[in-house]
Amino acid sequence: FRVMVSTLTVPNRETLGYVYTFDDLTEIRRLERDLRMQDRLAAVGRLAAAIAHEIRNPLTSIAGSVSMLSAITDLSKEHRQLLSIVTRESERLNGIITDFLAYSRGKQYQFSRVDLVPLLEDTLTLLEHRLLAEKSGIRIERHYAVREAWTLADGDKIKQVFWNFSENAIRAMRNGGTLSVSVEAAGDDWQINFADTGSGMNPQTIEKIFEPLQSEFEGGTGLGLAIVYQIVQAHEGKVWARSKPGQGSVFVLRLRCMTAGSASKTAGSGAISLGHSGSSRSTAAAVAMGERAHG
Ligand SMILES: Nc1ncnc2c1ncn2[C@@H]1O[C@H](COP(=O)(O)OP(=O)(O)OP(=O)(O)O)[C@@H](O)[C@H]1O
Ligand SMILES: [Mg+2]
Repeated sequence: FRVMVSTLTVPNRETLGYVYTFDDLTEIRRLERDLRMQDRLAAVGRLAAAIAHEIRNPLTSIAGSVSMLSAITDLSKEHRQLLSIVTRESERLNGIITDFLAYSRGKQYQFSRVDLVPLLEDTLTLLEHRLLAEKSGIRIERHYAVREAWTLADGDKIKQVFWNFSENAIRAMRNGGTLSVSVEAAGDDWQINFADTGSGMNPQTIEKIFEPLQSEFEGGTGLGLAIVYQIVQAHEGKVWARSKPGQGSVFVLRLRCMTAGSASKTAGSGAISLGHSGSSRSTAAAVAMGERAHG
């Protein structure tokens, strides 16, 4: 709120009182944020295409050469270690470029009728193997209120959303913790929560998490949640986060339940191209603890 105060005076008399004006700036702030987001989206998109194009080819040569070098049998332990650093780092670089490309070109969606439960299971199983191998001290809990959760979606893209939530949760739980994943019905939607017991976020961070290139994780690019935002918008869903520093974070995803009648509308229609502003009911928002996303 913006508060303005002015005195209420009548000529030749002393001050009668004060006039307080309260301006609700919520909507203006939201529009400002959307605008900031759109600006960054456009700039990042252009930059991504150019960077990816220029970097990918030399990177492929580097990776190829290193893998040939690694094949030499009489390498010392130290040399092998150095080569493995080059391999690991070029893989990381390749990952960043892939993310940029997914972000700038990722507008092709293959919608079909999918069950969210096995999609979650795919992600969590993969994650469990990784956590076990890394001895991370992170446990995964499942709280499924339903056995099936059908919706109209691009399954691969939704898995990417789950994966990006999970990766962040792991990064936020450096010293171990619990990732609780739940699925339940919420009115006409399915609600999926990813709750971690990690570092949490302050309100200033939450405000920007879905914007591209905003990162507070060491070595983070700040694209994971921007991709999530883009995917959720294309699904006309909602996504938001609740968190407090030191008290973990909850990322909430809402997707429309599939009813028998809605199947015929888009199912089987193949690739559908959707832009950022293509949907009327889509809203993604990061809101402070205890608040609901606007939708
Ligand atoms: N579970 C979480 N706990 C605490 N902070 C989080 C969590 N998830 C996201 N964040 C905050 O949101 C920021 C943006 O996340 P995002 O996934 O977009 O980028 P990133 O993880 O930093 O980089 P990238 O995903 O591109 O590798 C993070 O840098 C972090 O500050
Ligand atoms: Mg991330």
